[in-house]
Amino acid sequence: MINDIEIIKTEATKINEVDFDNLAFGSVFSDHMLECDFKDGKWHAPKVVPYHPITLDPSAKIFHYGQSVFEGMKAYKDAKGDVYLFRPLENFKRLNISSKRLAIPELPESYFMDGLKALLEVDKAWIPQQEGSSLYIRPFVFASGNGFHASPANAYKFVICTAPSGAYFSGKVKVLIEQTYSRSANGGVGFAKAGGNYAGQFYPTQLAVEKGYQQVIWTDDTNHEFIEEAGAMNIFIRINDTLITGPTSDRILDGITRKSIIDIANAEGIPVEVRKISVHEVVEAAKNGTLKEMFGAGTAAVISPISGFGYKDSDYDLPELDNTYANRLKKIITDIQTNKSEDPFGWRY
Ligand code: COI
Repeated sequence: MINDIEIIKTEATKINEVDFDNLAFGSVFSDHMLECDFKDGKWHAPKVVPYHPITLDPSAKIFHYGQSVFEGMKAYKDAKGDVYLFRPLENFKRLNISSKRLAIPELPESYFMDGLKALLEVDKAWIPQQEGSSLYIRPFVFASGNGFHASPANAYKFVICTAPSGAYFSGKVKVLIEQTYSRSANGGVGFAKAGGNYAGQFYPTQLAVEKGYQQVIWTDDTNHEFIEEAGAMNIFIRINDTLITGPTSDRILDGITRKSIIDIANAEGIPVEVRKISVHEVVEAAKNGTLKEMFGAGTAAVISPISGFGYKDSDYDLPELDNTYANRLKKIITDIQTNKSEDPFGWRY
């Protein structure tokens, strides 16, 4: 626990420039940010400071070797104005898991948690109360130390900035099952929230967009035979009444929304299988009418229903159902997150 986080407040708030009833995702930023430096072999106490550009030397290793990791979280404000986070310690732990893989020094828990709380206290007015909106929180750590030597930097910055945000996707998405590119490989960094994992997705996604799809379904790097993730999210597939998602591995992100959905589905009596699911199984299910739903799951979009998919020059539409698992599970998880329901799992913070 740190008692003395230095807080330097902005002299000019931007909050009056923001239309909280029409928020896009992650495009306006709150007045303050948390900043914390690693130098001389240790992390130094975080500070809350006005949101500002970061000045770096052109040789900073982040620019050359992409040594950076991040998290995605949300803060919610209920009708009474009380503020909640959702399983924040899971984000803290995963940030350090990612950091370790990228040879970035791990953060003390108190710097993350107390720093985050201090930041949210100062920018509490930026947490939207509007239905479907929240304060998206972006903690990240990057190599600020200098030098072209391809080795870990000797200085890092941990920053948290926040953005009042609306929905990530506006409707259902049409996806392409990827047959050429891979998001991750055995022994790689797919399980980590490394910035480069996302940069590597942009080009294949651009190609998919040119063909009329919005996102890519990632498949395994060996034979593109098994379904792994959906865009920047985990994926769930419903065949008949069973909800299936792939097991986490060093190629698949241990998504907090993913594991919460598995727990909620189990509690709801929805049959859930955590197992490898092949492209062949999904295509056959689409052909014989047993494929009922596919959806992505992640912090930003929560649950993002898929309208159909492309695979090897053929398109497959998913049925329009009245009662979807996607809607049911999304309501349960967002009601827990926003304090509209009981939280039998103890996830609300
Ligand atoms: C999230 O769902 O928060 C993510 O990290 C995805 C992000 C790339 C928007």
